[in-house]
Amino acid sequence: MAESILSGRRVLLIIGGGIAAYKSLELIRRLRERGASVRAIMTAAAHEFVTPLSVSSLSGDKVYADLFDLTDEAEMGHIELSRDADLLVVAPATADLMAKMAHGIAGDLASTALLATDKKVLIAPAMNVRMWTHRATQRNFETLLADGVDFVGPNEGDMACGEYGPGRMAEPAEILAAIEAHFAALAFPGGGPLKGKRVLITSGPTHEPIDPVRYLANRSSGKQGYAIAQAMARLGAETVLVSGPTNLPSPPGVTMTRVETAREMLSACEAALPADIAICAAAVADWRVASDAEQKLKKQPGEQAPALMLVENPDILATLSHLTTNRPRLVIGFAAETEKVIEHAVAKRQRKGCDWIVANDVSPATGVMGGDLNTVHLITREGQEDWPLLPKQAVAERLARRIADHFSTAKAAE
Ligand code: C5P
Repeated sequence: MAESILSGRRVLLIIGGGIAAYKSLELIRRLRERGASVRAIMTAAAHEFVTPLSVSSLSGDKVYADLFDLTDEAEMGHIELSRDADLLVVAPATADLMAKMAHGIAGDLASTALLATDKKVLIAPAMNVRMWTHRATQRNFETLLADGVDFVGPNEGDMACGEYGPGRMAEPAEILAAIEAHFAALAFPGGGPLKGKRVLITSGPTHEPIDPVRYLANRSSGKQGYAIAQAMARLGAETVLVSGPTNLPSPPGVTMTRVETAREMLSACEAALPADIAICAAAVADWRVASDAEQKLKKQPGEQAPALMLVENPDILATLSHLTTNRPRLVIGFAAETEKVIEHAVAKRQRKGCDWIVANDVSPATGVMGGDLNTVHLITREGQEDWPLLPKQAVAERLARRIADHFSTAKAAE
């Protein structure tokens, strides 16, 4: 199977005229990184927010804008544009574009392509909160839902116009996840090879309080664990993600529990059992402050800096691996090492009692910590597999696929 569910997919991206149009540039970049090709149509209003040059530089194709441009028709007409795509994405979808879609109005290239298509359409609305909540837009929203259009967002938050509320366009990562979910559903109409399996995943750092305003933490971004959760859900697993504090949006189709400390993370994991598979990708703090202060510690002139007394945190991976009841059938840990990666990972697999270890080199020169790429080695009881340098998303998909294969082989052997 291809490394990414998006490789070879053709996305027709329609960029409407809204301040959120700049986020569509990031979306194009991410789609192409994952192997999708992107063809873009810009409305006239979109040209006021981003330039066709930026869009075409990122998409690697010309930008389509004019319904009556004969050169365009000769190369690729409006019917052909939508016929050629696997999915149409409208981001940002303005109130105007939504209204045109809901009423079948086809006055420019964007609205014509949307009317001429029989492909799935996913839209990411972006508009002022009053425009979104207006009865007319809500009517159009209902109509589009009934027509089978898929939506991602809008999100609630601060708006460029200074107001607060629903109307912010979904972040590029969320739109990307919705696009991936669409293609995953097509790839596995019956529910995917992990259907019926429950997986528990830990991700992100933990924050261990020193006092009400300070904490001990680490540089984990949570990206790898979130990507694994998404990949497992896409293969049909019932997925529970227990996450420390991160800036990442909840992956679609995943049950999230957000926690702060290692002890909270352990309780959330125990509460999520039984599970068939546990994947501990969190960078759990090894120690916490023995007794965190109830009030903010104050700096007193002339006094010595306070000494922090640390005590050990529970080891979640080891705890899950050594359970006598409800032990997941497959427990997977991560070993982030800065030297002797394989040697340490092999020893860690035995010490923690888990079944597999995903080992990676996180020495600063690799840029893995907080970055988007990862080189991993899978250590199992049987031996070692070296994977190439891959985006974290592709590592996640490969791991999910490997887990699915493991269970199908185990079933065949029964
Ligand atoms: O011991 P070390 O932190 O290197 O082990 C890494 C593995 O153990 C990771 O899978 C991590 O999620 C897990 N771990 C844990 N609880 C801890 C420490 C690490 O689950 N307290």
